[in-house]
Amino acid sequence: MEKIIIKGGRPLRGQVTVEGSKNAVLPLQAAAILAVQGTVTLNNVPPVTDVQLMNRLLRFLNLKTAYGEKQRQLVINGSVPLSSEAPFEYVNQMRASLLVMGPLLARTGQARIALPGGCSIGARPIDLHLAGLRKLGATIKQDAGFIDARCDHLVGSRITLDFPSVGATENLMMAATMAEGITTIENAACEPEIVELANLLNKMGGRVHGAGSKVIRIQGVYYLHGAEYTVAPDRIEAGTWMLAAAVTNGDVIVRNAAAAYNTSLIAKLEEMGVTVIKQEDGIRVLGTSVLIPASVKAMPYPGFPTDLQPQMTVLQLLANGTSTMEEHVFEQRFNHLEELRRMNADFQIAGSVAILDGPTRFSGTEVAATDLRAGAALVLAGLAATGITQVCNPQCLDRGYYDFYQKLHQLGAQIDRFDVKEKFKIKPEQPRQENKGSEPE
Ligand code: EPZ
Repeated sequence: MEKIIIKGGRPLRGQVTVEGSKNAVLPLQAAAILAVQGTVTLNNVPPVTDVQLMNRLLRFLNLKTAYGEKQRQLVINGSVPLSSEAPFEYVNQMRASLLVMGPLLARTGQARIALPGGCSIGARPIDLHLAGLRKLGATIKQDAGFIDARCDHLVGSRITLDFPSVGATENLMMAATMAEGITTIENAACEPEIVELANLLNKMGGRVHGAGSKVIRIQGVYYLHGAEYTVAPDRIEAGTWMLAAAVTNGDVIVRNAAAAYNTSLIAKLEEMGVTVIKQEDGIRVLGTSVLIPASVKAMPYPGFPTDLQPQMTVLQLLANGTSTMEEHVFEQRFNHLEELRRMNADFQIAGSVAILDGPTRFSGTEVAATDLRAGAALVLAGLAATGITQVCNPQCLDRGYYDFYQKLHQLGAQIDRFDVKEKFKIKPEQPRQENKGSEPE
């Protein structure tokens, strides 16, 4: 079993560079399905396991993918007849596999996608995706754990989302690019990843307007072709490093971080007494030994990002007094708090509100990561804790952070990762030496 081991109590110092955005790349990979000729080349693609899994799914669908880790460049070619079935083994490991549904429908007229299973942060239904595709003219059936979507051709429509779902907005944008006529998506998600997807679709010959606002208009075209696009830095990874600097009272420059993508986090850090300096090459974060409590609401963009909520609760628990965290995106995203309780955290949960009583003297112990961002939160708590913290299931960190513990090590953390089985492998029995009068063992 793999573990990350941390000896806490050291301030992080130095600089760390942010990779490209995982949550921008995944829909861009799916969008490559729409290119009936030419290749889609993506730059600044992070070597994280979610991106690798999406590439495996694209290859299963008969697209060709080639990734150069050194150059961080991914080239995808789908100008061949495609399969249209995404099996359970992919969807079950990564819900974002669902993002191939819209482009497959637009490209091939059909998509057979395994229903995603459960998830540790909430039910995460897909009703908004399906309702929007039906509005575009798809007939959708569900049988034997699969969604079967078909259409002769998609027709533009006016779609209003009950909730500004990121994935539903992305799926429907991609489906609508080749629908007949105009599609409007109202109450659309406004995340930066939506803008990146629109940028690529337009470079591929699409006609998408209004991305980043609540209303997106798409004029359908006959076909899309290959294009090249460079992905923006990962705003959630950048925010995680900023919070790591703050929880250790450190001094860290987060290179490549774009302050414009993290305005809500920066505002809250400054409210809590942390110093944030926007520089040419990134963002410098200086911690403080006296943190002021704050109330935070995790909301759709441009609100405080739910993907930084677990990491932020660690900082709030260190503050001198009571803070609150309200989670308004997912209905079950406080699992990490029960793990933090084992490190001395004191809190109550009332529905979607966590009441966090600081200051906490985190003490190291063994904890388990339940998802990518909860895992990051547990590592941050370990960095701030006295004693040794062991974080089990660190593989979930690899989904969205590249070289996570190595980068923390470079910032001065006493941290390592190893496979317990390997490390303490029982060596095969050695023949015992005859004990000829030597010292007793
Ligand atoms: C994306 O997930 C991100 N993943 C998530 O990041 C992120 O937390 C989330 O957006 C919110 O910002 C990727 O981009 C790959 P949603 P997504 O659809 O699209 C409900 C990470 O750690 N909903 O915006 O799945 C849903 O249950 C991951 O990097 C419906 O009710 O999120 C949730 O409560 C975790 N019906 C809310 O909307 C639907 O059909 C937001 O979900 C779809 C969603």
